[in-house]
Amino acid sequence: MEIFDKAAALLEEAKNSEIKDANSLEQYRIKYLGSKNILKELFGEIRNIPKERKKEFGQLVNAIKQAAEDKYQTTSASFKSLQEEEEAAQLDLTRPGYNHTVGSRHPVRLVMEEMVEIFKRIGFVVEEDREIEDDWHNFSALNLPEDHPARDMQDTFYISLDPATVLRTHTSSVQVRVMGRQKPPIRILSPGKVFRNETISARSHCFFHQVEGLYIDKDVSFADLLQTLQFFASEFFGPDTKIKVRPSFFPFTEPSAEVDVSCFLCHGEGCNVCKHTGWVEILGCGIVDPKVLENSGIDPNEYSGFAFGVGVERIALMKYGVKDIRTLSENDVRFLDHFKSVVV
Ligand code: DAH
Repeated sequence: MEIFDKAAALLEEAKNSEIKDANSLEQYRIKYLGSKNILKELFGEIRNIPKERKKEFGQLVNAIKQAAEDKYQTTSASFKSLQEEEEAAQLDLTRPGYNHTVGSRHPVRLVMEEMVEIFKRIGFVVEEDREIEDDWHNFSALNLPEDHPARDMQDTFYISLDPATVLRTHTSSVQVRVMGRQKPPIRILSPGKVFRNETISARSHCFFHQVEGLYIDKDVSFADLLQTLQFFASEFFGPDTKIKVRPSFFPFTEPSAEVDVSCFLCHGEGCNVCKHTGWVEILGCGIVDPKVLENSGIDPNEYSGFAFGVGVERIALMKYGVKDIRTLSENDVRFLDHFKSVVV
């Protein structure tokens, strides 16, 4: 029968067609396997075939379909590997690699890390704590009861739903946290972020960083505090650095002092950094008030200690000659790039 000859010819063609490129492969796919393929047309003629040969015809059509599928699979696989080979041949292995951008440590982080490293050498360990703090740890326990005028020294951000919860205004809150959970001797350094509701300008920002120090043990004296700070100043600013201690007031220390260092840029001769005074103020400190020890669960009759708080941004600005504090929080990579080579 003619239709059988046609099918047999198609089987031969499906098996033997030459497929040279992607285009003819696609033509082949459309012809034998596409939605309007030639086999459907062929199969449509089955009704003209006598009953006893229908099965034979069905098998023939299936054989064509199978042959076309096999050929399509093997040909497209070989085209694919050919394409991969060609792509690989085009790779230029002598081409220089892509540059990876190297990050830099932020100047604020650099100053904090250097301080931590210096104080580590005399036995201080890092203790950090929360930035969202309660009124007790930020104020009351530190001798700043409600209505105390000294609270006005620090413009506080309150968490609006809860007036007893604040963004900590200083890292001194960590003193209270640590004394509450550790027994003396305590020798800690607490670097961290603090927040104050201040107008942002070249010299002040509404958030900045402090490093708090605390040393509690038996018989800790003001002389211990001075020795510790002198050690820090010499290590950080250079061996010839002198410190000057001026009486001051903080509610949580008695006596209290502010400490200046001899200007590390002009060594006392007078320059812009020290505003021609030869001295630069770097920190507040003092002997921890016995009431603060008591509030934190430490017996002031048995223990005493000193504390200090350093403003990090001020030091970073001076050390790296940066004029505007805002550049420290804008995260402009062109600015940060300057610190790539700084090794601590
Ligand atoms: N907390 C003070 C401030 O933010 C700084 C300070 C002063 C911390 C004296 C101390 C200290 O631990 O003893 O201005």
